[in-house]
Amino acid sequence: MDITRRDLFKMAGVAALGAAIGQFNVAQAAKTTTKNDEGENFMSSIHIAAKVGEIAERVLLPGDPVRAKIIAENFLTDVHQYTAIRNIFGFTGKYKGERVSIQATGMGVPSISIYLHELIEVYGAKKLIRVGTCGGMKENIHLRDVVIAQGVSTDSSIVKQVFGDVLNFSLIADFELLSRAANVAKKLNLPVNVGNVICVDLFYNDYDDPNGTFGDGKNTFNDKLRRYGILAVEMECAALYLHAAAANVQALGIFTVSDHLLTKELITPEERQSSFNDMIKIALETIIQ
Ligand code: HPA
Repeated sequence: MDITRRDLFKMAGVAALGAAIGQFNVAQAAKTTTKNDEGENFMSSIHIAAKVGEIAERVLLPGDPVRAKIIAENFLTDVHQYTAIRNIFGFTGKYKGERVSIQATGMGVPSISIYLHELIEVYGAKKLIRVGTCGGMKENIHLRDVVIAQGVSTDSSIVKQVFGDVLNFSLIADFELLSRAANVAKKLNLPVNVGNVICVDLFYNDYDDPNGTFGDGKNTFNDKLRRYGILAVEMECAALYLHAAAANVQALGIFTVSDHLLTKELITPEERQSSFNDMIKIALETIIQ
């Protein structure tokens, strides 16, 4: 049978896709040598200055390093800071007697992807809950609400880098963590909204412009997202759910609404703190079960 140019093209595509999947799954996290406070050398990953064993299997992931510190100081006991590389802090402590780490991730898919990879591949993280802020998208979502991402849609290329154009892979929460979080919230009498969110690469995009990239001249892209039930917008959850799927570990994204794309409202830094606490309580009670 003759092999046509078209066949070769297809075969090359499949090979490239296979290579991409392989790379995503098995790429070794490069390790480096770091000095501790006593000046002793130890092996760490490139972006996290922890020894293997210093990070718990259960990890909360705020984007903001200062928030990581606030969570550790206010919710955990026996707190130990294991990293400050780039001022992206990480802490391990105990919540109700269980070891939990709080690792800041920075903002956006590329930044969180670095931390996810090293946490999972080098330090053995098994349960990961992102605790972040989001922008409210739908009319029924309000400032300070807590949103839990049952699924996440994304404009990031991260899914294509694994599955090419062959598959629109579904990015979903771990069901056990999701159902636990919903139950915990009910028990604590903290209302939550569970559904689909969008993870975007650009915080400042043109999705609110009817003549923007995906507007149709009359309606904005955000109008369409609302129509399709998107509750909120954030910038990291696609990476969380994709890395978790690739490594067969459990992940969940929980967010507090800090601004609203329809009403253009913003919460103050003080309000941010108190509404943030509800989300942290839900996340910690969920992760220790
Ligand atoms: N857009 C994207 N990410 C966000 C937002 C937003 O409005 N608010 C908090 N994270």
